Amino acid sequence: MIKRYRFGTPIETGAVMEKGEEQDRRELFITQTEDGFCYRMSDAMIVYGLGENTRGINKRGWSYISCCTDDPRHSEGTRSLYGAHNFLLLSDRECHTGLFIDTPGKVTFDVGCSQYDLLQIKVEDACDLYVIVGDSAPSVVQQFRSLIGRSYIPPRWAFGYGQSRWGYQSSEDIREVVRRHREQKLPLDSVYLDIDYMERYKDFTINRETFPDFEALAAEMKKEHIHLVPIIDGGVKVEEGYDVYEEGVQEGYFCKDEDGNDYIVGVWPGKCCFPDMLNEKAGKWFGRKYGRLLEKGIDGFWNDMNEPAIFYSQQRLEQVFNELDAYRNQNLSIDSFFKFQNLAPSLSNNEEDYRAFYHNYRGQRIRHDKVHNLFGFYMTRFAAEAFEELEPQKRILLFSRASYIGMHRYAGIWQGDNRSWWSHLLMNIKMMPSLNMCGFLYTGADLGGFGEDATEDLVIRWLSFGIFTPLMRNHSAIGTRRQEAYQFARTDLFRNVLRIRYRLLPYLYSEYMKAALNNTMMFQPLAFVYPEDARASRIEDQLMLGENIMIAPVYEQNAEGRVVYLPERMKMLRFRTDGSIEESIWENGFSYVDMPLGEVCIFVRDHYLLPLAEGGEYVEEVDFEHLKLYSCGEEVKPYEYYTDNGETKEYLLEKHIRILTHNH
Ligand code: GLC
Repeated sequence: MIKRYRFGTPIETGAVMEKGEEQDRRELFITQTEDGFCYRMSDAMIVYGLGENTRGINKRGWSYISCCTDDPRHSEGTRSLYGAHNFLLLSDRECHTGLFIDTPGKVTFDVGCSQYDLLQIKVEDACDLYVIVGDSAPSVVQQFRSLIGRSYIPPRWAFGYGQSRWGYQSSEDIREVVRRHREQKLPLDSVYLDIDYMERYKDFTINRETFPDFEALAAEMKKEHIHLVPIIDGGVKVEEGYDVYEEGVQEGYFCKDEDGNDYIVGVWPGKCCFPDMLNEKAGKWFGRKYGRLLEKGIDGFWNDMNEPAIFYSQQRLEQVFNELDAYRNQNLSIDSFFKFQNLAPSLSNNEEDYRAFYHNYRGQRIRHDKVHNLFGFYMTRFAAEAFEELEPQKRILLFSRASYIGMHRYAGIWQGDNRSWWSHLLMNIKMMPSLNMCGFLYTGADLGGFGEDATEDLVIRWLSFGIFTPLMRNHSAIGTRRQEAYQFARTDLFRNVLRIRYRLLPYLYSEYMKAALNNTMMFQPLAFVYPEDARASRIEDQLMLGENIMIAPVYEQNAEGRVVYLPERMKMLRFRTDGSIEESIWENGFSYVDMPLGEVCIFVRDHYLLPLAEGGEYVEEVDFEHLKLYSCGEEVKPYEYYTDNGETKEYLLEKHIRILTHNH
């Protein structure tokens, strides 16, 4: 049951499919406060949700802010990441209630941080509050997901392994990445083009000095079963003679400052303007520009810097230079040094700058901070809508850095600029179910970590988890240690891990498609499957993946195994480094399981089966028809196996589901 309550006149976000009737606020079960809502939580209550954010699967004990933020330094103390996903699920034995606060501005969720038993929600502007009641946590999620609409479905090749790095400078660099993977028999389906492919970081341009043969390169790669996936940034370079900039100025498509002039900010290319992604005409215009790359043989994109990230605004830069100067020749002491030191860092993503520019949304001038969380969503939506016009039958890969609920219908997300830290691997694990609840199924983190230097063991362990995430991409920042699978000594371990991904593809793809088409989750907390098991409900470092299996990744350095909690008897499949699979039965309870580097363990639930393919070096090579079935126990449940051609948009369940049975 879903009920909607309205507070003020909220700005339309486009998050839900159908709003439903407005309800009488007097019936609301949570207390309305001056600036939001408040609810007393039971001791046993677990609070799930908030999609892309820090900390645990259970969000209790911290305070989070929904505000799309570019924060490459995020850690445990962070409150906002790249996406803003205002959905919570309160769950204990008596009740399972979902809350969705639909508003495009900032929302603060104090989930028992100030006071352990209080949930305090602060909403800056008008909102619609949706309350969803169900008889179980999964039923609340499913209702919420049907409210917000079907999740994005990428092409099947996008479930292959992708290699990315900021710093691949030329066509030759790209060819080398592919050659080295193929030579070493490391499976690969895509190579990502970071900002280096553009001419002076200008959207929709190609640097012809370093990529003279771009179209030929794309065609040659296709022959090798490799898809090139270029990046598109949220800001347009200010440069005379650059047609995208000039058209934007002429048509009035850029965001404006207080006085109606184009608002200028600094991003990668230096001075930029933001296309007014909320303005229908401007958004459509920007979306159609992707066609330039489609024509060159591209069939996938990643949208970046669309929180939108601001290095500096023109105005603030001036101000900071002046202020810096005032410190010259001063005796910088405790009173002044830190203020001085903070001046340059205060330039980036400054709140005041987000209050200094305007959109034209549905004919109204709206200050940016009021609609901040929609910028990346709308940029991505307009791109997806352009694809729909330009290539109506083709699935095109699209994922974004910034997001809001509703964007999940148009694209996936990656989890932003993480670091080569073990704690960020764990965060990646914990974020998967939270994102799935909010509709984001096509997602994954930068495997191996984006910032800082990765070590061989970290990359292997991270890939050993990444083989389960729909978006499986190794990405790193310029200047950090190279971390492609062929850069380290133990290539055989990398090969083994990557090959397991390709053996799992039929199951992963099938589970993905069912989750998208049935509004269910692909990654679930154990509590969703074993609600009666009090221990299972507190496990945060193991996940149920699809209906049939459980995973328990290793996320600590130098560990050679880990404690695994089995909520029931299961069969463990150990993928050994020689390619063989060892099967063993494990009884319920806590067990220590050896998991040497390069081996992967998967737990098949009792009475369930896991179909495996032979594998391949790219998705097209995988045989999705002839599968080997591994099962646990007697009376194995028939498996509803989903397959389709992976390219077109005809995904009716009835047509594509086949039943696999195993009598063992
Ligand atoms: C941003 C992106 C990162 C990319 C870099 C350069 O930091 O999040 O993935 O590599 O910009 O484009």
